[in-house]
Amino acid sequence: MVEKPSFLIQVENIEKPLEHVASSSSILETLEQAKVEVPYQCREGFCGACRATLIEGQTQYSNEPLAFVRDGEVLLCCSKPVSNIKIKLP
Ligand code: FES
Repeated sequence: MVEKPSFLIQVENIEKPLEHVASSSSILETLEQAKVEVPYQCREGFCGACRATLIEGQTQYSNEPLAFVRDGEVLLCCSKPVSNIKIKLP
């Protein structure tokens, strides 16, 4: 069986990058498991509360979110990294 790749999530102001394993459902889940506090409400891409700045790298949404997202932003609750990424939390 081929292992799915995992990617690193570098959060601004946190020294050590976090590993996003393929089984993690979202960037938000990975951050929560590492005890990083992230604002959120709906966890489904509606409210925009989990919006963060994507400084580097690429992410992909599981379902296209309804909340407004500008270029350079990402909703953490419904996306996964598809490369190593660097983000800045709100
Ligand atoms: S928590 Fe509502 S859009 Fe992410």
